[in-house]
Amino acid sequence: MEIRSAAVIGAGVMGSGIAAHIANAGIPVFLLDIVPQAVKDGQGNDRSVVARTAVEKMLKTDPAPFMHRKAAGLITPGNLEDDLDKLAGVDWIVEAIVENPAIKSDLYRKLDAVRKPGSVVSSNTSTIPLRILLDGQSEQFAQDFLITHFFNPPRYMRLLEIVKGERTRADAVEAVARFCDVALGKGVVTCKDTPGFIANRIGTYFMQAAVNEAIDGGLTVEEADAISGRPMGLPKTGTFGLIDLVGLDLMPLIAKSLLATLPADDDYRRIFRTSPVIERMIAEGYTGRKGKGGFYRQQKLPGGKRSREALDLGTGQYRPQQRTALESAGVKGLRALVDHPDKGGRYAWRVLSQALTYAADLVPQIADTVVEVDEAMRLGYNWKWGPFEMIDQLGTGWFAEKLAAEGKRVPELLAVAAGRPFYRVENGKLQFLGVDGDYRDVKRPDGVLLLSDVKRASKPVAKNGSAALWDIGDGVLCLEFTSKMNALDTDIMAMIRKAIETIGNGKAGPFKALVIHNESDNFSVGANLGLAMFAVNIGLWPQIEAGTAEGQATYKALKYAPFPTVGAPSGMALGGGCEILLHCSAVQAHAESYIGLVEVGVGLIPGWGGCKELLTRATVNKKRPGGPMPPIAQVFETISTAKVAKSAFEAKELLFLRPTDGITFNRYRLLADAKKKALEMAAAYEPPQPVEIRLPGPSAKMALEMAVEGFALQGKATPHDITVSKALAFILSGGNTDITKPVTEDDLLALERDAFIGLVKTTQTIDRIEHMLETGKPLRN
Ligand code: NAI
Repeated sequence: MEIRSAAVIGAGVMGSGIAAHIANAGIPVFLLDIVPQAVKDGQGNDRSVVARTAVEKMLKTDPAPFMHRKAAGLITPGNLEDDLDKLAGVDWIVEAIVENPAIKSDLYRKLDAVRKPGSVVSSNTSTIPLRILLDGQSEQFAQDFLITHFFNPPRYMRLLEIVKGERTRADAVEAVARFCDVALGKGVVTCKDTPGFIANRIGTYFMQAAVNEAIDGGLTVEEADAISGRPMGLPKTGTFGLIDLVGLDLMPLIAKSLLATLPADDDYRRIFRTSPVIERMIAEGYTGRKGKGGFYRQQKLPGGKRSREALDLGTGQYRPQQRTALESAGVKGLRALVDHPDKGGRYAWRVLSQALTYAADLVPQIADTVVEVDEAMRLGYNWKWGPFEMIDQLGTGWFAEKLAAEGKRVPELLAVAAGRPFYRVENGKLQFLGVDGDYRDVKRPDGVLLLSDVKRASKPVAKNGSAALWDIGDGVLCLEFTSKMNALDTDIMAMIRKAIETIGNGKAGPFKALVIHNESDNFSVGANLGLAMFAVNIGLWPQIEAGTAEGQATYKALKYAPFPTVGAPSGMALGGGCEILLHCSAVQAHAESYIGLVEVGVGLIPGWGGCKELLTRATVNKKRPGGPMPPIAQVFETISTAKVAKSAFEAKELLFLRPTDGITFNRYRLLADAKKKALEMAAAYEPPQPVEIRLPGPSAKMALEMAVEGFALQGKATPHDITVSKALAFILSGGNTDITKPVTEDDLLALERDAFIGLVKTTQTIDRIEHMLETGKPLRN
């Protein structure tokens, strides 16, 4: 079966977010909730007000649940009294109502009466076992039912835990799992029907252990967070910061539901504690960031400054936040961390030894293999490494010995490992250790190609300090950036030219196409500003000019290469990272791509062909009549306000992507999709023809400048914004030209270069670059 339509029941936090994400994928979805008693009592006449309000609210939420505003139109709000018959037409019904088995059961009976034969129903429950949910339901319902546990917020959290019952149809599970993987982009992890499934079970235990040990070990919240964050490969908030983020009031609720269902001998029961301080905080409204504060609190002081305070775990009083001086927080590697003799090191060992033991005890109880557990913690809790990858870093033998030396029980699975790692690479293939003690290959689903797998199995075709070329099979070469934050530098430019040279005309082979892709969080944050600043500081103007020209020439060579080039970004593609995509023959973008030309933030204009490409694209693709001005004004607005698309769909609206460029929802499928596109194009590839456009010159420049001065009068533009915008206006109007003369790409590149060099010499631009390097934020000078 295939899922072409859906309905979500329950328009609360999760239900509305799930509906939005289904709509993001282009699938029509009904969103139903109860008719509020107040409406029944005559207050207002919109019986679907709950769902309708939820959709309206989501259009204003940041970060946005919708990838593009048009997606909201795919959601049809309704209610459970008037619209139940609509469910007869849908393939998949997701239930996301209150966490109460009796209320859910009652709803399932209603759904079963109206839904079409063969449709699938799933629950988003986070705690109720499937067998309890199915109590008293029809046999047919049991066959069509499973749990799909999304994480909050559904668009952004990649994990989806799936639990199937003994009677659930295999093809129903397959259809939902495939839809969630391919269409919604989720990392689907199959779990057993046990309390809290995988991620919340281990995550909750970890947090409880981290809180207990901080209190017992006399650590401040800052110290505990300095250790239980980045050094452990966990989100940088650390434990207390994370609890503030999710809400202190949620913790007792999760604990209560786990305690109600966990086995009697579960170790969580041993470490679970209530804390009078935390109970008092919740009662008084100190529920974290959403409340009056949590373990941390920020307050506005007179004069606009902010006070940063942290809770003293002993007294329960706030005091000024302190910098932590723990040496252990700065060590490299987990082993060095837990081995460190200071109290941070001891804390790390006490927390990790308990949490990793707990995780090891749960396989195969909660999942068939260690692979699912690691994946769930990475995707659901944003851990850099799953628990078994962490144990491997410590060494299974070392970990078991240390536990034994402390008189602690060694988990069965560690005995099975007998000093061998949970993961190994054999003949270039990643393998995991099964519970039976045998290694097996980690299997990737069809349509998944990971660069990390290619890298394990082969040597690079070429490599330098900032980039590498990989053979990803079938005649496709992949260019990977490897520099810090994938900042672009001369080594990357050299590797682009090396790729062009390696592929040649694409006919004499081994290679016929290029994909540009990497597996970092961000595709590229743009040019390496540190290097630029170094050159500026010693006045290397000719080198800066040469660097600009080199970037332009390299990107141009990429654009006119005799073989197809496909950019495959995920995360941020900013500045020069955006410009490289603009020069590719096509792009296959991850849906979560954040693309933009943000150079004005550091007092510059896009100088590697970004102005040229966006302008020619807007002019050539111009849909509406109205002379040359509308596309120029559109591009001017996009660049001068440093607009960043917050999804691949928005990138199409801003012209960073073409209408024909592809969008992949699942990051794991991005490289395979990009490769497929490259091969399709390679079959009959012709490089693009050079473009000439006609631009109005000074009259357009004057019009744009007037607009800028208007912004300045409204206080929306700073003095240097005006300088930068005027330089941009000169480029986009075509320089000293008029509408009768053709402007070539090289003419536009020359204008970019002149403007770039002019700006980089100003002290205000230098101040902006320095400020960005120091603080990561733009300076508004
Ligand atoms: P919520 O409280 O935000 O929304 C629940 C919705 O259910 C409300 O819109 C309410 O009007 C509706 N509802 C109440 N009684 C109903 C009834 N008798 N029939 C139909 N609808 C009714 O709850 P939330 O957080 O969205 O949770 C929904 C489900 O998702 C729960 O099963 C929860 O365990 C699960 N979940 C929640 C997560 C979270 O972070 N909030 C994460 C993952 C799962």
